[in-house]
Amino acid sequence: MFPLIKNIPKFRTALLSWYDAEQRPLPWRTTPSLYRTVVSEFMLQQTQVKTALPYFDQWMHQFPDFDTLAKADIELVLKYWEGLGYYNRARNLHKLAKAIIQLDEPPKTPEQWKLLPGIGDYTSAAITSIAQNYPAAVVDGNVVRVLARISNENKCFSSNGQAVEFFRATAESLLDPIRPGDANQAIMELGATVCVKAATNCPTCPVQSFCSSYKSGDPKSLPNIVRPKRTKVFIDRAIIIKENSILLHKIPSNAKRLSDHFELPNFEAFNINLDAQNESVRKHSIKRRSISNQSIVETLYKINSPLAETVTQTVTQTVEEPTQQEAYWVDLKSINSILLSGPHKRWIEELKEEV
Ligand code: ADE
Repeated sequence: MFPLIKNIPKFRTALLSWYDAEQRPLPWRTTPSLYRTVVSEFMLQQTQVKTALPYFDQWMHQFPDFDTLAKADIELVLKYWEGLGYYNRARNLHKLAKAIIQLDEPPKTPEQWKLLPGIGDYTSAAITSIAQNYPAAVVDGNVVRVLARISNENKCFSSNGQAVEFFRATAESLLDPIRPGDANQAIMELGATVCVKAATNCPTCPVQSFCSSYKSGDPKSLPNIVRPKRTKVFIDRAIIIKENSILLHKIPSNAKRLSDHFELPNFEAFNINLDAQNESVRKHSIKRRSISNQSIVETLYKINSPLAETVTQTVTQTVEEPTQQEAYWVDLKSINSILLSGPHKRWIEELKEEV
């Protein structure tokens, strides 16, 4: 049996009244359309609203509808996604636009939408409920947090996905059948702005009187998700700058992740042996970040002469004259015209300041 919430009609009214009064005026809400809903929901998977906002505006300017997007080159599409991460979302959105313009009319149910590229349980429910008034409940990390707290459910989950499946039926039971899109956005909005991880806003919560963990539990400990420990990954990267160009490595087109992206070369790719005594090598900085179940520590080394010459002697081409080789000299002034992941873009921007 799934966790039940009492007084469902009153809960729906309280949540929707709060949303009507307090919702953030986001561009895909103030001027809604099917296309804007699709783009925003693709961007908002794995990404916070404040990060997605500038991307959304620039995207709409460049690709105002499915037709323009479908006809654009994938390189340009990826350029407009650069820095948002999880680039398969952009590739799938492009494929989706190509598929939609072939149809006489857009799909109407979550099942029909799920036959298209990049559409799963979350996106199909979000798109159909928000843009087509279809009663499908969305369950994302924010919704899980709200529902675990309201129901005071402290079952231990080993992943987000497991918790999402556990709370799906509860979310469906709470969904307002008349305004499903607003009801879904309201519960996600509550999770993003009020029912935050630290549970510091409980006193102002519009559904506090329905919340069992507020009454007799510990909201901040919920949901109880204990993920397997992250594995540590260490990567050494080289900064090799000659006049105003930087040496970058291009990830092959058939790579699983970040294909066709440029990056600061890692020592392995360029066969660099780190010798602490080598005066050509100076530690520059250490960058730490986490993705899914990996904790990554990247050490950047500045490589000077004479080692820099040894490393680069096989690399003669520039990005304007690409060859089969995967290393390029890129003019620091033109890094905005090549594809870079968020962290590499930031690091190279920092390096530009130092040159
Ligand atoms: N997160 C993802 N989509 C959202 C939406 N439409 N409203 C609020 N939060 C969201």
